[in-house]
Amino acid sequence: MVRTRFCELFGVDYPIVQGGMQWVGRAELVAAVANAGALGFLTALTQPTPEALGKEIARCQELTDRPFGVNLTILPTINPPPYAEYRQAIIESGVKIVETAGFSPADHLPAFRAAGVKVVHKCTSVRHAVKAEKLGVDAISIDGFECAGHPGEDDIPGLVLIPAAADRVTIPMIASGGFADGRGLVAALALGADGINMGTRFLATVEAPIHDSVKRRLVEATELETELIFRSLRNTARVARNSVSTEVVTVLDRNGTFDDVRALVAGSRGRKVFETGDLEAGIWSAGMAQGLIRDIPTVAELIARIVAEAEAIISRRLPQSLTVSANEPARAANRTVAGGQQAMTANEPARAASLTVAGGQQR
Ligand SMILES: Cc1cc2nc3c(=O)[nH]c(=O)nc-3n(C[C@H](O)[C@H](O)[C@H](O)COP(=O)(O)O)c2cc1C
Repeated sequence: MVRTRFCELFGVDYPIVQGGMQWVGRAELVAAVANAGALGFLTALTQPTPEALGKEIARCQELTDRPFGVNLTILPTINPPPYAEYRQAIIESGVKIVETAGFSPADHLPAFRAAGVKVVHKCTSVRHAVKAEKLGVDAISIDGFECAGHPGEDDIPGLVLIPAAADRVTIPMIASGGFADGRGLVAALALGADGINMGTRFLATVEAPIHDSVKRRLVEATELETELIFRSLRNTARVARNSVSTEVVTVLDRNGTFDDVRALVAGSRGRKVFETGDLEAGIWSAGMAQGLIRDIPTVAELIARIVAEAEAIISRRLPQSLTVSANEPARAANRTVAGGQQAMTANEPARAASLTVAGGQQR
């Protein structure tokens, strides 16, 4: 079984997270993720009011008795939502895990800590991850350039971002952006993360509360069919490429302002895509990971498959790479072969700790 310290900290079976998703992170998806042994987040701002969020949390609590959390996305807007009231609704509901994103969680941490709520802060750069750890969050979720939604402005893909962050962050860290399968989970662990966060892959599941045509589109779409909008506004977002996203890019490339694209990017239009299945109705988030999506499984099937694939890679495929050849005496000397299996070397305890063999043995 693939387990890491992230699982211990948040009381889940698998180091797999379903991040907050506007219009999608509702009770049926989050409860399915929780019941499958992973960690799902309701999206606070999908609910029109803090009271409605309280009701959605109660609905999720009816559907699962496993741990789940709430995403609080802090947006840089002129007329911000009543964040303190949303925060209070989360605390009063008894939810003990929050994912903050979009902006520094500093204003919200004291209240969450006082209520015993653990905070996973999602960010897109090493410097923000280091800052969040200093502020006292419990875990980091770090989004590479591949991700759906806001990848930041640094354009650093996960292959570099994750190990760079792992070198600087000591608390549990989840890798995000571009993950869709067991290969990704193993890669994230190898790069120094304690698990993975996924958005796009969870859109194409039976329980995702969105129209089937969006799910089918994700199966068809390749990794090439996303688009970065709002680059010139320094508020970059990766979305599914469609006629609306291309128009937004064209207008802004011609020195347009946000006012020139405001109507095109209205949240209500994006919501319509998910509700009606009209893929051209507005802007909707999707990441490059869509190129890795081939089917629409249940959440339980997806998680079981990712975990089984990761276990197979770690226990069967990777050990084959350690085959000792006759002309490699120096590297071979670092390894001990016991009973036909490779035993770990002194500097591999962290990676080995991720694979707990059923029966409690560490391999
Ligand atoms: C439809 C959709 C909506 C999203 N909305 C939010 C959001 O409101 N807040 C947030 O923090 N992240 C949001 N995200 C980002 C995800 O939580 C996650 O970080 C991202 O999808 C990871 O990259 P991936 O799509 O490659 O797995 C959204 C992603 C998608 C696909």
